[in-house]
Amino acid sequence: MSNEQKLSVYQPSEEFVKNAAIAGMDAYRALCKEAEDDYEGFWARHAREMLEWKEPFTKVLDESDAPFFKWFADGKLNVSYNCLDRNVNNGLGDKVAIIFEGDKGDVTRVTYKDLLARVSKFANALRSLGVQKGDRVVIYLPMSIEGVVAMQACARIGATHSIVFGGFSAHALRDRIEDAGAKVLITSDGQHRGGKALPLKPIADEALALGGTDCLQNVVVVKRTGGEVTMVDGRDVWLDDIVASQSETCEPEWVEAEHPLFVLYTSGSTGKPKGVQHSSGGYLLQAMMSMKYTFDIKPEDVFWCTADIGWVTGHTYITYGPLACGATEIVFEGVPTYPDAGRFWKMIQDHKVSIFYTAPTAIRSLIKAADNNPEVHPTKYDLSSLRLLGSVGEPINPAAWEWYYQNVGGGNCPIVDTFWQTETGAHMITPMPGATPMVPGSCTLPFPGIMAAVVDETGTEVPWGQGGILVVKRPWPAMIRTIWGDPERFKKSYYPDDFKGKLYLAGDGAIRDVDTGYFTITGRIDDVLNVSGHRMGTMEIESALVAHESVAEAAVVGRPDDVTGEAIVAFVVLKGARPTGDEAAKVIKELQNWVGHEIGPIAKPKDIRFGENLPKTRSGKIMRRLLRQLAKGEDILQDTSTLENPAILEQLKG
Ligand code: WT7
Repeated sequence: MSNEQKLSVYQPSEEFVKNAAIAGMDAYRALCKEAEDDYEGFWARHAREMLEWKEPFTKVLDESDAPFFKWFADGKLNVSYNCLDRNVNNGLGDKVAIIFEGDKGDVTRVTYKDLLARVSKFANALRSLGVQKGDRVVIYLPMSIEGVVAMQACARIGATHSIVFGGFSAHALRDRIEDAGAKVLITSDGQHRGGKALPLKPIADEALALGGTDCLQNVVVVKRTGGEVTMVDGRDVWLDDIVASQSETCEPEWVEAEHPLFVLYTSGSTGKPKGVQHSSGGYLLQAMMSMKYTFDIKPEDVFWCTADIGWVTGHTYITYGPLACGATEIVFEGVPTYPDAGRFWKMIQDHKVSIFYTAPTAIRSLIKAADNNPEVHPTKYDLSSLRLLGSVGEPINPAAWEWYYQNVGGGNCPIVDTFWQTETGAHMITPMPGATPMVPGSCTLPFPGIMAAVVDETGTEVPWGQGGILVVKRPWPAMIRTIWGDPERFKKSYYPDDFKGKLYLAGDGAIRDVDTGYFTITGRIDDVLNVSGHRMGTMEIESALVAHESVAEAAVVGRPDDVTGEAIVAFVVLKGARPTGDEAAKVIKELQNWVGHEIGPIAKPKDIRFGENLPKTRSGKIMRRLLRQLAKGEDILQDTSTLENPAILEQLKG
């Protein structure tokens, strides 16, 4: 930190350090050194200690087809076996695996034994529909036990799952089913959220009606809300009907470590979302390692990651990591503000949650809520069960960090600010809670074994204190393997020629502290926005806008927002006259709803402004830098004489 902005440093408590998996900085450094001295040996040791292999691997890292790296390639295992059978065999059969709390407060507990039986039945049912190793299954389910069971069932039979977040639209769902070439879609009649029952199956029907999904043979429907659904004969089946007669045992499909466990779509710089393909062995390894080192998971912990299974956080820290470690975890269907904004705190109190992992956006909105209503302030609840807090998805501002630390953690729970991505599979840069002195707003130091660095445009490391581009110098086991069906795009996006194909490009900027080398993430360096911890491509939103019949042209940028981190601002040129007043307000509503319908409510622009044109250079390039300034409400002071149409700026001021 420079002198002007010296920030407080927080040390983990002695009590925490005493029992920590990594106790003290010397232990952390020793692990990092082990990895530096013998990179493959470090990962291989953990892979042998933490995973149960059907056939042990002999080769660790295969770089012969770089950047398509392979890990533990000749080893065979099954992810669901490692998460379930192994724990049951080790005497944890009666331990609670999942405490499910529904939107309305209904609580269901599932033991490891029960979960194994449910997964096996589901897996057998999928097999009965003809799903085999390598087939893709799209899952469009709310937060539910069935969601986790469906994912585990796919893993059990070697089917590759692709979850589509329940808030995505019919179009988004159709595109993903088509791109993945899915054989089966698993959905539910509906979902409960914030006291309302929302439909899902009807959206799935709409998606399939759009066409392009001939790959799909069956739709499996889970009953949740009892909402009305139409079942298509020969295609749609109720889950209850197909599992009823299935056996509670199911022989797992032993797969190669590189077998694709899942494909998860995420936003990139172009309009089309990318299907990030993950492995089985390397992925599960780092899911477990980060549970052990970052979350310091212990047998008596109650772990709660508030993410949705529709995002990677829900994959790694709900479906796979905690279960593989034999932990007890919370699965929550609802939203943080229903029935009131004390819901998270009440649930921590009721279920004696000891490790709590959430997003800065949620914290910021709950700070606001607590400021307005003292009854939902975390200090009104007994949160003494907590021993560790986590943050994920976007930078956490120091003020939110301090509030979280004092009011939720009672001033004695370390906070792990975990930087990672859909592509990285697991934590990349994060404090080790029993070792790393914490600085609010910094994700601190790399996870042991992760070779993160900050470089300039030529790929040369920059001195600490100087901002640059975040890269990873060596492949790691949980990394993305390719973009589904588009290996060229994988190479271009993550191993660009600028860095001679040698460095993994995260897509974020970063700066390291001059004294400590701590990393602070400075934000995306591509056209990707982070709204409430959700990743959105500006091009994706632009494509949705121009698909509207009245829109001629659109440019989307982000603007800082107190609660959501970034907010979406769209600059739109209509085919007809530029609307003003009430007419403008009407069109804004219509376009917002349109984007919500095309992509999903999370992609709705918060602010839409109309111009007769967009600010362009003489060669016709949209000047996004100016749009970002306009979006923030900044005055344009620099010379705009290179603009084709400087007068347009006035119209777009908002
Ligand atoms: C992008 C990845 C990783 C799971 C959820 C998001 C941003 C993520 C942090 C953090 C600052 C962060 C980055 C990254 N991000 N965690 N702790 N501090 N920024 O996964 O949707 O793939 O988004 O989220 O910009 O590139 P994702």
